[in-house]
Amino acid sequence: MDIPQHIPPEIVSAQDYEALGLKRLPADLAAWLAGGSAEEWTLRRNREAFGEVGLRNSICRVPSGVDTRLPLLGQTLPHPLLLAPVANHGLVHPEGEIATAQGAEAVLAALVLSSQANTPLEQVAGHVSRRWMQLYWQQTPERTLRLIRRAEDAGYSALVLTLDAPVQALSRGAQRQGFALPAHLGHPNLEPAVRREAASGQSPIDVLLQEAATLESLDFILGNTSLPVLVKGVMESDDAVELLGHGVHGLIVSNHGGRALDGVSASLEALPRIRQAVGDGATLLFDGGIRSGHDVFKALALGADAVLIGRLQLYALAVAGPLGVAHMLKILHEELQLCMALTGCATVEEIGPHTLRLDRA
Ligand SMILES: Cc1cc2nc3c(=O)[nH]c(=O)nc-3n(C[C@H](O)[C@H](O)[C@H](O)COP(=O)(O)O)c2cc1C
Repeated sequence: MDIPQHIPPEIVSAQDYEALGLKRLPADLAAWLAGGSAEEWTLRRNREAFGEVGLRNSICRVPSGVDTRLPLLGQTLPHPLLLAPVANHGLVHPEGEIATAQGAEAVLAALVLSSQANTPLEQVAGHVSRRWMQLYWQQTPERTLRLIRRAEDAGYSALVLTLDAPVQALSRGAQRQGFALPAHLGHPNLEPAVRREAASGQSPIDVLLQEAATLESLDFILGNTSLPVLVKGVMESDDAVELLGHGVHGLIVSNHGGRALDGVSASLEALPRIRQAVGDGATLLFDGGIRSGHDVFKALALGADAVLIGRLQLYALAVAGPLGVAHMLKILHEELQLCMALTGCATVEEIGPHTLRLDRA
């Protein structure tokens, strides 16, 4: 696919990247990227939930300026936009995750690198100063620790342990399109999986479940790194409270963009109940369904400290490379600033439920 080095003039919103990206990508890649699991009920709910939340304008208290800076895990971020861990950027851009990292760096966004990236994490590190590393449990403590040490040595400043997808199925659309990872793209951050034969009576899912992360795995990770550890995939308040009890440094409310368990609620619906359960002090990030700066604002108002941007980054990468990623994030940032100005919020801290209209009266 030819990636233009300019921004197509018809792009004026982040969603334009989605529309154009889906048009330009080969059908199998588009299906892999856009799809969700099973009947895609959760995938649809992730978007619908944003449409059910209205905003309240403030005409009597207009701030004299808006400041999107925020403290997060001991650092100051210029804005609350991070790039979510998304696998296989090499599918949509020849430079893969390096191109994404360059786009993130241009707008000072943090990149959460997927452990299923097509580029060694050490190479990505040279292109983005704010970088976190996502991981799944790697079958054994030793294998997991080797990945963590690589991330530490390469200056990643936080670990994101994804717990919501110990087993996963390709979307039905991607299956129908015959999606498969091309042979030239590998996962250089992962050691080859040790294949275990299923014992008699064991299904392939049973085999995977034998190696899934447990709370003991989480404790092991927490006890063996000095980096802050966030858990991604939290949708229920009781899990949130339990995880904080284990000492995790932050939670990411996420349903994997509707790609894990179909039937769980929209992540935007889970957000306020989790914020309520964990209290104001806990670090709570959010992803799922964000397609505009207005969506970012709503997530912050419902309790997120910061948000992660998933599919949009690959649509932007497919359409205009690093420039597209930077431009997409810039659009979200400017729309967030606009919402803050018109709702009377001078700082992100001031964004709260009082800025929302949840009824239709
Ligand atoms: C194509 C694709 C690949 C993904 N790969 C990963 C991954 O490797 N690790 C992970 O924790 N989440 C992964 N996710 C989930 C994202 O981090 C994020 O939760 C989700 O995309 C947010 O929803 P959004 O796409 O509507 O913004 C992936 C999502 C997509 C769409």
